Amino acid sequence: MDRFAFWADFFNANEVRTVTEIGVWRGEFAERILSSCPSIERYYLVDPWRHLPDWNKPFNKGDDEFEDVLAEARRRVSPFASRCVFLRGRTTEVELPEVDFTYVDGDHTLRGISIDLIRAWPKTKWLGGDDFGPIWQHGAKFEPSMVNPFAAHFAEAVGASFQIFGNQYLMGRDDAFAYDGDTRLLPHIRSRCRWERLFGY
Ligand SMILES: C[S@@+](CC[C@H](N)C(=O)[O-])C[C@H]1O[C@@H](n2cnc3c(N)ncnc32)[C@H](O)[C@@H]1O
Repeated sequence: MDRFAFWADFFNANEVRTVTEIGVWRGEFAERILSSCPSIERYYLVDPWRHLPDWNKPFNKGDDEFEDVLAEARRRVSPFASRCVFLRGRTTEVELPEVDFTYVDGDHTLRGISIDLIRAWPKTKWLGGDDFGPIWQHGAKFEPSMVNPFAAHFAEAVGASFQIFGNQYLMGRDDAFAYDGDTRLLPHIRSRCRWERLFGY
């Protein structure tokens, strides 16, 4: 599944006007969405773009590399600069704006996804995110990713609808996306999951 095309279709179908992206890296998602979605008037890019001493994940590079990463993100979205607002900092360090949609793709550890969903949900109409998949996403040397199952449990706790599309998830405040109660991974994700081989689920 092409996540860029999937979300672009969603934004265009729902005439989404304001978006926050948490975890931007080199700005590839932002570039693809902004170039495909003319209805988006304001796009907030949230990322510390610095080394974090307490984040054991492969994207946690050195400060020098992060300066290059930020420069690339700025270059990628430069054709849409008038619609972009850069918020440099962790989710806990910036004031998240009220938006139609928030895309969560930052710190996927249990600490990170908890903070991001709890902070972002009150500020957004819909919330979606990346990597609803196996917890050992980056192998045993790194902290596990807990987007799956935390996002599903969070949606249930706040009474949001919840759906998964491949490794993307979506929660909302309306009935358009009924929660079907099935938070198992879709087959093509399950087949990549080490736990399946270990425990046969
Ligand atoms: C997987 S990359 C994002 C990829 C991007 N969304 C895309 O699709 O092109 C993860 C990013 O999350 C950022 N990040 C890590 N911890 C964060 C936090 N607490 N708040 C916001 N961003 C964070 C990292 O700096 C990194 O750039």
